[in-house]
Amino acid sequence: MVKGILDTRWIEMRKTGLLCGRKAHFFAEIASTNEVALRLGRQGAEAGALVVADGQSCGRGRLGRAWVSPPEQGLYFSIILRPHLEPADLPKITLVAALAVCKAVEEVVGLNPGIKWPNDLLLDGKKFCGILTETGALFSGESPLVVLGIGLNVSTPRELFPEELRERATSLFVAGGKLPTRGELLAAIIQAVDVELARLEQGEFSAVLADWRDRDATFGKKLSWLTPDGKVVEGISLGPDEAGVLHIRDDNGREYEVLSGDVNL
Ligand code: BTN
Repeated sequence: MVKGILDTRWIEMRKTGLLCGRKAHFFAEIASTNEVALRLGRQGAEAGALVVADGQSCGRGRLGRAWVSPPEQGLYFSIILRPHLEPADLPKITLVAALAVCKAVEEVVGLNPGIKWPNDLLLDGKKFCGILTETGALFSGESPLVVLGIGLNVSTPRELFPEELRERATSLFVAGGKLPTRGELLAAIIQAVDVELARLEQGEFSAVLADWRDRDATFGKKLSWLTPDGKVVEGISLGPDEAGVLHIRDDNGREYEVLSGDVNL
């Protein structure tokens, strides 16, 4: 059982009838909560089920990267979702989740993170939280299986980040916020995810996007986009459109839609 994460606020929250977190699976250490959540999802686990680990030996990030997950220093969890959304709308879940984490951190920690499209949360320009949304096989007529994985560096000291990440990574502790227990923060995040996801499913993505834009860390700034076929495009960020797709404009005035790949400030 995971002491730090199972605090009283967490237990209270689980009685509130929210979808996310009604059922939870806790682990001391596993390879990846996304991996376990996908497996449970394929075995029929209910929507809202949560997989939490105190540490991960093979935490995974976007584009085949690793997510450094030292035990008891961060939050590493995945939520199994079966959203009432069309496949084309599934990428919006990552944006919605980023907004939810921002709101929870603002409330519980008293810091104001920025969002770097699509899945990075920044404090002082450095990343402290990443989101990895993975999808199971899609079957027509059935709600899709989606696993929403969130990794957040809570008390990680600078020296626990690998050297090559130290200039780019941070934690709530390093950023100097009011340090909550991980359980308190987890409760606030999944509550916020629940609220924001409901807005998305009710067709209120425009309103969600307006909140997201208030926290856009890259709008109007020069971005470098590494396209999926390995080209580099440089341009000014115009922010995401109503479909959640990022637009950038290069020096020649040509506008690009960024559907995948990597963007950097
Ligand atoms: C990224 O920034 O590239 C996404 C990082 C996502 C990390 C989280 S930690 C919990 C969940 N389990 C994983 O293996 N990955 C996600």
